[in-house]
Amino acid sequence: MTEAPPGADTTVAVHYSPYDYAIHEDPYPTYARLRVQAPLYRNEELDFWALARHRDVLGAFRNPTQLSNRFGVSLDPAVYGPQAERGMSFLAMDPPRHTRMRSLVSKAFTPKRVAEMEGRVRAIARDHIEAALERGSFDFVTDFAGRLPMDVISEMIGLPVADRAEVRRLADLLVHRDADVFDIPRAGLEAAVVLAGYFEGVIAERRAGGRFEDLTSALLEAEIDGDRLSDDEVISFLFLMAVAGNETTTKLLANAWFWGWRFPDERAKALTHPGRVSDWVEETLRFDTSTQMLLRVTTGEVELCGTVLPDSARVLLLLGSANRDEMVFPEPDRFDLDRDTSKLVSFGSGRHFCLGAALARLEARVGLTELVTTVADYDVDAEHAERVHSINVRGFAHLPTTVTRRR
Ligand code: HEM
Repeated sequence: MTEAPPGADTTVAVHYSPYDYAIHEDPYPTYARLRVQAPLYRNEELDFWALARHRDVLGAFRNPTQLSNRFGVSLDPAVYGPQAERGMSFLAMDPPRHTRMRSLVSKAFTPKRVAEMEGRVRAIARDHIEAALERGSFDFVTDFAGRLPMDVISEMIGLPVADRAEVRRLADLLVHRDADVFDIPRAGLEAAVVLAGYFEGVIAERRAGGRFEDLTSALLEAEIDGDRLSDDEVISFLFLMAVAGNETTTKLLANAWFWGWRFPDERAKALTHPGRVSDWVEETLRFDTSTQMLLRVTTGEVELCGTVLPDSARVLLLLGSANRDEMVFPEPDRFDLDRDTSKLVSFGSGRHFCLGAALARLEARVGLTELVTTVADYDVDAEHAERVHSINVRGFAHLPTTVTRRR
């Protein structure tokens, strides 16, 4: 039986909304109460259900026939519904279309292809670290964590160096949410239009016959059963890369830096033994994952936690909560590099399992290893740190830090 968290008043009904700025600050006490009081939570106002326990979240990932991705993975009205795939590509599709697109793109993400990228990832990480270390104090997000994944993805899809900062700025606007606005703010919608226009240009250049060796060209040329992807399909894929491949990894890097700072004994393990950086990455993924929740839609009546949900019900899978479930992770609120993290659900499971998981892990391991081998120790200015306000993604927009170089 799951225990109530210390100090929790179980007589008061628990309230959860992913739009709530207090949830962005610290969702974990609320998750703990949901797991005890309402493992299948109902929010009438926003018309969703939410699953909080590890067992149920995993079960939902593995039940894609009854819990569909076809309306996307976000609650936001602007991207929820059949139009979701315009910005989320095959993440917002079910078979057979999901299978068709995923199989085309997977070739770029095989373990072999990802391992081959290690040298480039290291070189990019070193460049950014050198520039930041020269200043001693810098913003971990804008000077490092935001740049490494953007550069890696940009090289994969073929975006010129000069355009990357602007693409990242637009991608940031896409995921930002204003307090108490239950949708994508105007700036985010405008950013989407600008980004779509920019991607159209990227595609037009390749259609015009330029010689490019990148994932975008490979997608434009790929044929499945005599069929080619349309420009709109390729644009949607580029959107997915800019958000799924970029934002989440940026957040992972900065979350690792922050929690390492908050727990000096754990940080010391990685600083003294760089071989332990992988444990630091895995425990960060478990303890405070970038993707906090994902949406599914029922395809008929479905029984969850003993309740029968109707057709077309919206169900949130709370990944951040599943990763703190005491039934699976003893003392879940302890940040501990020595624990078994093999059951974390940060990359999902089943049909939509994160295609970029190996790449994200590689970037985090290489980026943080380059840091701990250059830096003797570091400090974080938590007072001036700023969180992103997003309903799916958790992490920092700014994380000021000061580092001491190794002699
Ligand atoms: C820490 C970093 C990352 C996290 C936490 C993360 C998390 C996730 C999760 C939870 C899903 C499953 C979505 C679902 O079940 O509906 C997913 C899917 C996906 N991710 Fe990631 N991701 C990360 C990095 C990346 C990177 C670096 C890339 C690519 C460069 C990427 C590309 C994708 C794609 C293409 C999908 C859709 C797969 C499908 O629908 O078949 N992700 N990611």
